[in-house]
Amino acid sequence: MTAEVLSIETPARFEEAVRRAGALLRAGQLVALPTETVYGLAANAWDEEAVRRIYQAKGRPAENPIIVHVAGLELARRCVRAWPSAADQLAAAFWPGPLTLVLPRSEEIPPLVTAGGATVGVRWPRHPFIQAVIRACGFPLAAPSANRSTELSPTTAEHVRKSLGASIPLIIDGGPAHVGIESSVLDLASSPPRLLRPGMISAESLQAVLGEGALEIGGAPPAIVRSPGQGPRHYSPKARLVVLCWRDEADLAAQVSAFGLAREKIHLVTHSRVPLREHFGRVAIVPPDAEACARALYAELHRCDEAGAELIIVEAPPPGEQWRAIADRLRRAAHG
Ligand code: TXA
Ligand code: MG
Repeated sequence: MTAEVLSIETPARFEEAVRRAGALLRAGQLVALPTETVYGLAANAWDEEAVRRIYQAKGRPAENPIIVHVAGLELARRCVRAWPSAADQLAAAFWPGPLTLVLPRSEEIPPLVTAGGATVGVRWPRHPFIQAVIRACGFPLAAPSANRSTELSPTTAEHVRKSLGASIPLIIDGGPAHVGIESSVLDLASSPPRLLRPGMISAESLQAVLGEGALEIGGAPPAIVRSPGQGPRHYSPKARLVVLCWRDEADLAAQVSAFGLAREKIHLVTHSRVPLREHFGRVAIVPPDAEACARALYAELHRCDEAGAELIIVEAPPPGEQWRAIADRLRRAAHG
């Protein structure tokens, strides 16, 4: 199979892409499509056989649950058994947008979507294309990031084509993702609510809506595996990645030599300290503000892989709540 890639950059093409994607999804097939966070690999969430194809195409372990995407509160409520008032408040504040709410799963959601678990992650994404497809189909879309398991998430259609182009029929090209890293995942089924995966909707913003003292941060205790996708090896480029701080170029040079690699094989991703004398295969400068950096980061890491980097050195992100999600993804990538 070779994926067809459809653009949506005129109204007629957008319409045609909605029609083509809808037809495949209704037939139980997979479609990769843009969301504002990263590209998703979508299937009809009511259809267990269709969802099985997601696990096959990604090589995804069966114990990693999949987020269900909706385009309205009515559909969100059909996916869950209980809809607490906190969900109403959070949805009013952040939906459509990069926030996933974990709630008790309704009977309509096949157990395969939730990896057999009692809860389901639900998100109303902001990208107009996925909203249009969900409205046209009338069913929610189960959609993980559109990459092979453990790989870096895709932020362009080309990233998807390279990873999954041989195993799915259709990729919709909506341009570079606007947010650039995966949604914040908030578990409302545990008490107090727990931020399972930080994202660009910050813990502070969530806290402000939930009220003081009502939010825990970080994965559940290891004994209770609530979010297996939060395991360490995730979001990894092919090259080894390390996060470093350096005082000056001499310090950077000393740290770099310790890796014992040819300089051409080392790529540097920096937001503030650009080396002037040290030689590298490539020096990528990412923006020094968190939102812009999130938008650019995965594309830079994909570029390092494409250029054959063996080691990617990323300048440590600054401290601060707005950098939490980026620091989290870099930590996981460095584990790979
Ligand atoms: O921004 C995003 O969330 C993107 C776009 C496509 O929506 N999706 C995404 O999906 O990143 P995925 O499958 O790559 O990551 C979903 C994460 C995993 O870490 C998974 O373990 C967690 O969400 N998750 C999903 N359902 C869950 C549940 N019921 N309980 C706990 N964690 C859950
Ligand atoms: Mg993923």
